[in-house]
Amino acid sequence: MIYARVAGTGSFLPGKPVTNDDLVARGIETSDEWIAERTGIRMRHLAEPDVTASQLAYEASVRAIEAAGCQPSDIDLIIVATSTPDYIFPSTAALLQARLGITNGGAVFDLQAVCTGFAYALATAEKFIRSGSNKRALVVGAEVFSRILDWNDRGTCVLFGDGAGAVVLEASARPGILATALHADGSHSPILSVPGQINRGVVIGDPFLRMDGQAVFKFAVKVLGEVAREVVEQAGLTMGDVDWLIPHQANMRILQATGKRLGVPMEKVIATVAQHGNTSAASIPLALDLAVRDGRVQRGQKLLLEGVGGGFTWGAVLLEF
Ligand code: ACO
Repeated sequence: MIYARVAGTGSFLPGKPVTNDDLVARGIETSDEWIAERTGIRMRHLAEPDVTASQLAYEASVRAIEAAGCQPSDIDLIIVATSTPDYIFPSTAALLQARLGITNGGAVFDLQAVCTGFAYALATAEKFIRSGSNKRALVVGAEVFSRILDWNDRGTCVLFGDGAGAVVLEASARPGILATALHADGSHSPILSVPGQINRGVVIGDPFLRMDGQAVFKFAVKVLGEVAREVVEQAGLTMGDVDWLIPHQANMRILQATGKRLGVPMEKVIATVAQHGNTSAASIPLALDLAVRDGRVQRGQKLLLEGVGGGFTWGAVLLEF
């Protein structure tokens, strides 16, 4: 039996943290109190305008590859989960592959499932590895959401941040990923979207993120609870067997409500939203890498990674680290 196991993790945040008070100083009509009370966010990192997703992905990937103890040339599959790609094409994964100096490599592609992107990408890479077609995958979540935020819309611009996280997933005789579940319901797309496109050189529609915050909140809490239960059951385990819940970091109240629904105490939930804001597809691997590097996440522990995002999409991956 071939399993897919996380061999190493890495992450990267651009620049210095930008606090809620910094946003006020930049002229946004908000307050630290409003943002912190409703979302738990205290700060986020925002990339300079010329910094791209593939650059952030590269920095995170170098760290993950080093942690895995392998070389870029050992990677035979790259999946980058992003909603803020460098270009329409080539894919951010292809640009990342070039930055890593890999030539004549295996498959590379981007995966677009918004904030569920990393869970989708990890589950997809697992299928490639378990089928025997690939040996070592680089799975990345990389975002520069600052590009698609309407900085005149205080209801959304304060919520997001930029960053990247990566894992190296490799074939192993020992169990790694134990269960995966991916879902979508496109009928909910209007509650969170960037409803624009470039057509003949002109932006058609709206190039900025639009959200019905309260509808997103309700939907997120419901499906995060359901999909977490689904993967735990699939693996023949109980929620009590999970050492760490690592959810997509949308906001603290969603994390708390999800933990409560699942009966998982907050001490077992990795929360980075206060420092990172919502980094969409990057949030789960950023949180995972932080917890690996500060020693909370240990080899042999069971981790439940789960996300929800635009589409709407949602999914979870249960793994033994
Ligand atoms: N600072 C100060 N006041 C603000 C701000 C701000 N940044 N943004 C909105 N307000 C005001 C509004 O103008 C409104 O004022 P009014 O009552 O005078 O009209 C008031 O605050 C309440 O606005 P609501 O939008 O109703 O605020 P709500 O309590 O719903 O909180 C929030 C908004 C935080 C977005 C909440 O709905 C939420 O947490 N939703 C979850 C959505 C989320 O986390 N999305 C992340 C992306 S999706 C994902 O990752 C899955």
